[in-house]
Parts: sequence; structure tokens; C-alpha cells
Amino acid sequence: MLISGRGSNLQALIRATSDVEASAEIALVLANRADAGGLDHAAAAGIPQTVVDHRDYADREAFERHLSATLEAAGIELICLAGFMRVLSPWLVERWRDRLLNIHPSLLPAFRGLDTHRRAIEAGVRLAGCTVHFVRAEVDSGPIIVQGAVPVLADDTPDSLATRVLDLEHRCYPMALELVASGRAEVDGERVRIDDGTPALLISPEA
Ligand code: GRF
Repeated sequence: MLISGRGSNLQALIRATSDVEASAEIALVLANRADAGGLDHAAAAGIPQTVVDHRDYADREAFERHLSATLEAAGIELICLAGFMRVLSPWLVERWRDRLLNIHPSLLPAFRGLDTHRRAIEAGVRLAGCTVHFVRAEVDSGPIIVQGAVPVLADDTPDSLATRVLDLEHRCYPMALELVASGRAEVDGERVRIDDGTPALLISPEA
């Protein structure tokens, strides 16, 4: 798990993977900031953690080479980005192709990038949500594994919408990780095929 901040998605995945039936095990939490709040969740759960601070490296390439080597040395099979606030180079994305997941707080391909909830409200969309996807070099793109949808309410603010979407993120990410780790979700072309037909969509009750 790669994080930069509070780590609420990390917390959701820690909870989900503590189930004996879970296919994935969180072997390492890596933060690029020593003050990432999510490191406390890792400590509380007894999960190994490490900090690779990008500011300690001359450039993106040196940072990523160290990061990738750290993960390989730990025997990591799958990377989950959860609020990891570094843009990844094509080199890293290719090295971990189809083994690198991200969660983004919008219904991709709409609203890539930052400030998604404000932009969704301003655009007047009726449905917002989140997407868990395999990572490709272009920011916030790649084969979609799971999406979650929530209605945008007339009096929503970016904060109120973010809160409802985050709640859904905490359900979508564990679902996506389980699908991938159990081998039921596979990249087929640039789409994800779910072998047993599990509908990889969650719709909030308010919808
Ligand atoms: C989430 O909204 C996620 O979708 C985005 O960054 C935020 C991370 O939140 N990529 P947290 O650190 O998991 O609480």
C-alpha cells in the first residue's frame, strides 16, 4: 500500500484483509512522507512500514528506482495506491503493469486530476462516485475494475459530496482488491474481465 496522507482507504483495506477468507495480505505500507497519518493505522495493525521520501532523491527516476527496489525486496506482488500524491513515470507504471491499482474519487474517465468534487458539482452532473482501476501512464487512466456511484444532491458542497464518495471508496477498494488478488479480475485488452460475472459496481442507497 502506497500512501501520502490520512490513509482511510488503507484502514478499509486493513479491515477487509484481516478476514481469514481474504485473498490479499498487506505486507508493507510505504509512505513518501514521514508524517503520513496512515502510518499509524499500519502500526496499530502490526503491518511493516517504511518511508521513502521523494525529497531525498535527485529526481523522479532515482526516487522511483529506490521505491520499486524496496517493494521487490519485500516480495510485493501487487501495489495499491491509496492517496499517494506522486505522479508515476511511465517506467514505474510499465514495470508494475497490471500489478498496480489506484482509487480515484470520480467516475472515470470524467474528472481526472484533483478537486474532483467541486468540478463535478460545477458541471451539474447528477451522479458522482469513485473508480478503482489498473494504472496506466496517463494520470488517472487505465482498465476499470470497480466503480461506485452516488447521487449529487441539490445542496451538496464539495465536502458533503466527498464524504459520501469516501464512504463508497471504502467499500469499492476492498471489493476490487479481492477480485484481483483472487484472480477473478483480469485485464483483457484495455478492459477488465470479471471471470465469475460479479457485478463490479456499487450504488449508494441514496441513488
Ligand atoms: C481518496 O479520496 C482517494 O480516492 C484519493 O485520495 C484520497 C485518499 O484518502 N486518491 P485516504 O488517504 O485514503 O483517506
